[in-house]
Amino acid sequence: MIHSCSERKMITWSLCLVFFLSYSVLVFASPAKNLCRPDQRDALWDFKNDFIVQKDDRLSYSNPKTESWRNNTDCCSWDGVRCYLQTGNVVELNLWGSFLSGPLRSNSSLFRLQHLEILNLGSNPNLYGNIPSSLGNLSYLTDLVLSDCGFTGELPDSMGNLNRLIDLRLYNNKLHGNFPLFLLNLSDITQISLSSNNFIGSIPSSLFLSPSLVVLELSGNNFSGLLDIGNVSSPSKLRNLGLGRNNFSGPILGSTSKLVSLKDLDLSFWRDSLNFSIFLHLTSLERLDLSYPNTRIMVDLDLFSHFKSLWDLNLSGNNLKISSTLHFPSPIYMLKLSSCNLSHFPKFLQSKTSLSYLDISANQIEGQVPEWLWRLRYVDISQNSFSSFEGPSDVFRRSGRQPNSTMFFLGSDNLFTGEIPRMICELVNLQTLVLSNNNFSGFIPQCFKNFNTTISVLHLQNNSLSGAFPQESIGGRLRSLDVGHNRLSGKLPKSLVNCTQLEFLNVEDNRFNDTFPFWLRSLPILQFLVLRSNKFHGPVSYPQDSMNFSKLRIFDVSQNLFTGVLPSDYFAGWSAMSSPVVYVEAIVHMLVFQNYHKSVGLTNKGSNMDLVGSGFRIYKTIDVSGNRLEGDIPQSIGLLKELVVLNMSNNAFTGHIQGHLLATTAFCSFKGEKFDSSSMHGPGHIPPSLSNLTNLQSLDLSRNRLSGTIPPDLEKLTFLAWMNFSNNMLEGLIPQGTQIQSQNSSSFAQNPGLCGAPLKRSCSEGAEEARKQEKENEEKEEKDQVLSWIAAAIGYGPGVFCGFVIGHILSSYRHDWLMRIFRSFA
Ligand SMILES: *[C@@H]1O[C@H](CO)[C@@H](O)[C@H](O)[C@H]1NC(C)=O
Ligand SMILES: *[C@@H]1O[C@H](CO)[C@@H](O)[C@H](O)[C@H]1NC(C)=O
Ligand SMILES: *[C@@H]1O[C@H](CO)[C@@H](O)[C@H](O)[C@H]1NC(C)=O
Ligand SMILES: *[C@@H]1O[C@H](CO)[C@@H](O)[C@H](O)[C@H]1NC(C)=O
Ligand SMILES: *[C@@H]1O[C@H](CO)[C@@H](O)[C@H](O)[C@H]1NC(C)=O
Ligand SMILES: *[C@@H]1O[C@H](CO)[C@@H](O)[C@H](O)[C@H]1NC(C)=O
Ligand SMILES: *[C@@H]1O[C@H](CO)[C@@H](O)[C@H](O)[C@H]1NC(C)=O
Ligand SMILES: *[C@@H]1O[C@H](CO)[C@@H](O)[C@H](O)[C@H]1NC(C)=O
Ligand SMILES: *[C@@H]1O[C@H](CO)[C@@H](O)[C@H](O)[C@H]1NC(C)=O
Ligand SMILES: *[C@@H]1O[C@H](CO)[C@@H](O)[C@H](O)[C@H]1NC(C)=O
Ligand SMILES: *[C@@H]1O[C@H](CO)[C@@H](O)[C@H](O)[C@H]1NC(C)=O
Ligand SMILES: *[C@@H]1O[C@H](CO)[C@@H](O)[C@H](O)[C@H]1NC(C)=O
Repeated sequence: MIHSCSERKMITWSLCLVFFLSYSVLVFASPAKNLCRPDQRDALWDFKNDFIVQKDDRLSYSNPKTESWRNNTDCCSWDGVRCYLQTGNVVELNLWGSFLSGPLRSNSSLFRLQHLEILNLGSNPNLYGNIPSSLGNLSYLTDLVLSDCGFTGELPDSMGNLNRLIDLRLYNNKLHGNFPLFLLNLSDITQISLSSNNFIGSIPSSLFLSPSLVVLELSGNNFSGLLDIGNVSSPSKLRNLGLGRNNFSGPILGSTSKLVSLKDLDLSFWRDSLNFSIFLHLTSLERLDLSYPNTRIMVDLDLFSHFKSLWDLNLSGNNLKISSTLHFPSPIYMLKLSSCNLSHFPKFLQSKTSLSYLDISANQIEGQVPEWLWRLRYVDISQNSFSSFEGPSDVFRRSGRQPNSTMFFLGSDNLFTGEIPRMICELVNLQTLVLSNNNFSGFIPQCFKNFNTTISVLHLQNNSLSGAFPQESIGGRLRSLDVGHNRLSGKLPKSLVNCTQLEFLNVEDNRFNDTFPFWLRSLPILQFLVLRSNKFHGPVSYPQDSMNFSKLRIFDVSQNLFTGVLPSDYFAGWSAMSSPVVYVEAIVHMLVFQNYHKSVGLTNKGSNMDLVGSGFRIYKTIDVSGNRLEGDIPQSIGLLKELVVLNMSNNAFTGHIQGHLLATTAFCSFKGEKFDSSSMHGPGHIPPSLSNLTNLQSLDLSRNRLSGTIPPDLEKLTFLAWMNFSNNMLEGLIPQGTQIQSQNSSSFAQNPGLCGAPLKRSCSEGAEEARKQEKENEEKEEKDQVLSWIAAAIGYGPGVFCGFVIGHILSSYRHDWLMRIFRSFA
């Protein structure tokens, strides 16, 4: 297949190298004989025990190899281990994608495997630490792969000892420092991949003189200065050159005439104007990325027509000129022309039968979506001014053709009106359908069930769709469903219960009339549940059972008709909100979160505040506001240490002053009498456990019936930038911490008993005494309550919950993640 040609060749090439070594130099162990040297086995066994294996089912390609190791078997037959036949020395350790979790220490037993030639620890995102200088002692290393891990710091100088090193892959870590100069001394080095790290400084031009270098990937760092590729004298072997997404300035200096082997060139996000003409003689180029230059100039597509092998071209972010007579013979497969200032559909594409992936988003193209587009696998026409689809709605049936090839169709932010065209139902391989932010009306077509076995992302939000959601259209592969901001009514489709891969569910701002979907508890990876602004009713808690939404990060059931009490242990099983772990965002998070933030206005809720680190990655929020919930705020809220936004306003939460562990019960002079707690029943009030929410940035408890005091320990919450306690029955002194005191007085208004700054009303002296008394009385009772729900929490045994950050997925652009998915299917 063409699409991953370049990558594939890279892999093939590495494999060739491995096979070459294996057949000509080494004789590998056959697993039948016991070859393992005891010292090598012990080193491996110790290494295995240095790490925890933390699995994540969503990384389906990964496999915890060390778990299959058995200490009483031949270590040379262990998964990922290879030995040299004659000596029993371990020469290869390949633990790629093995879920290793923990730091790689400088005293690691790994460095006792002195004869290692191939070391691959790539794709273990929870493997971290500095790259130890002991690595320089593995003097036989030829291949070192530590990509897609969590390594930090600078590369140790001792790596300069690895003068047999051939293949070095360190991409996608957090390494920093200058370009490692020792690499210039490695005479056999063939592949250097340092992409997606934090390296800085300039690139020495002598690097390009290296006669052995085939792959040089430096994209996605902060390399800067002028790039001088020098005067290469003999034909270079360089095939892949990745320089994009750096901070290079000025024109590229030196001679490119000898780069005759170059097939893959990335010069994206170039800071200055780039004279691409110096590369025009590289006629064997296959992949070219010139996207998003810092200075937009007019580029004529004709310029690229003489690259006869070009199959992947990215010119996004350039002002593109496409002449009507363009002749474009390249076997183009993937074309990205986003933000190219196009006002007409590039007609020449219709005859390019090789084309499979087209991104023409963010242009100004009007009119009809051409019918021939359905033969492509990936189509992104979002952010244009398309208004309709070419052909009648049964165009395919009439023509007898099955346009079953489109898998990804992104058509959001256009001017579509009328019903969703039925011909979309003919796309039986559809995996991603995004039609959000248009003006489609009518029902969601019943015939969506045609792709119920394939559909993974279905986003129809912000249209004018009405009627019930068709049950049958939901299939087991669904990962993200967003139908927010429509006029849908009836019940949530119960078939969602079978969507075990569902991560995001947003039905906000519709007319759903249903009870709380408790059955969603069984979905193992649900992260995002938004029922906001509908007619959901009844209790949100489930008698005799925990909610146990273990991966939930966004819980928004606000503006509904929910009633009842939240039990004290309500949040006990919500591990994702109580642990600092970030999950794999395998798919969709960008679109979903951006839309959600926009629609809910979360980023400036109440006070134009900017959430610190408000990347969607860490965003964890609970919003139950605008319902009819009553009773106490559950104590277990204190477990959700990662919560950033908590909104329980506009309900009927009660609370009766009962004093508590930490309360400052000061009394206001105008009131003049001690509140008699004995006349009240139950615990209630603002739970002091709130002060455990150390990541909280926004807290809204306004418009309830809360009584008692504001827990003074809330002043410990240093990130808490915005809070609202107004319209309750709170009393006593407002705590004096800076965060609290910097609030506007309106945040405390309409509480007859509250006093002290920022309110004008002052509190009486002598409150201290009363406070002490109160505290002693209630301490014991409070402790008992806390214990009881903590016991409940332990009962759920959330344990340590682990996950991974795949940095390059998170940090890359929307198209990159779709690309990945696309590739994995293509
Ligand atoms: C080896 O494994 C056995 C059980 O599989 C265990 O009893 C023994 O302690 C292990 N030895 C070491 C050195 O870990
Ligand atoms: C390795 O060093 C760490 C501290 O850096 C220490 O805790 C550990 O015990 C050491 N392990 C060995 C095997 O020496
Ligand atoms: C490297 O090996 C030498 C000799 O075996 C040893 O003295 C030294 O401590 C090792 N260095 C590291 C960093 O492990
Ligand atoms: C490169 O090799 C030369 C000669 O062996 C040595 O003097 C120099 O220090 C090495 N440079 C680096 C950066 O390792
Ligand atoms: C590059 O440097 C800038 C400014 O110091 C920083 O904001 C950015 O994150 C860096 N990018 C990378 C990829 O290191
Ligand atoms: C390359 O050659 C040009 C002219 O021959 C010379 O001016 C320049 O300094 C050379 N660059 C390098 C890096 O050697
Ligand atoms: C980017 O390059 C400019 C100009 O060369 C320099 O001033 C700036 O510090 C560089 N930024 C980083 C993060 O290296
Ligand atoms: C596409 O449809 C044709 C005609 O119905 C069928 O023969 C072919 O197998 C389908 N291809 C796929 C990938 O489903
Ligand atoms: C898809 O829909 C068809 C027709 O309604 C149904 O028979 C089939 O079971 C559904 N498959 C899934 C996975 O939901
Ligand atoms: C879920 O799937 C099972 C097994 O395929 C099926 O029996 C059941 O009816 C489905 N549930 C719903 C609500 O669709
Ligand atoms: C919800 O639906 C029920 C009937 O199923 C109806 O009685 C009730 O009035 C509806 N609620 C709202 C708020 O529309
Ligand atoms: C608050 O956190 C501390 C430790 O982090 C824990 O011991 C305590 O039980 C927590 N309290 C509540 C009420 O959650």
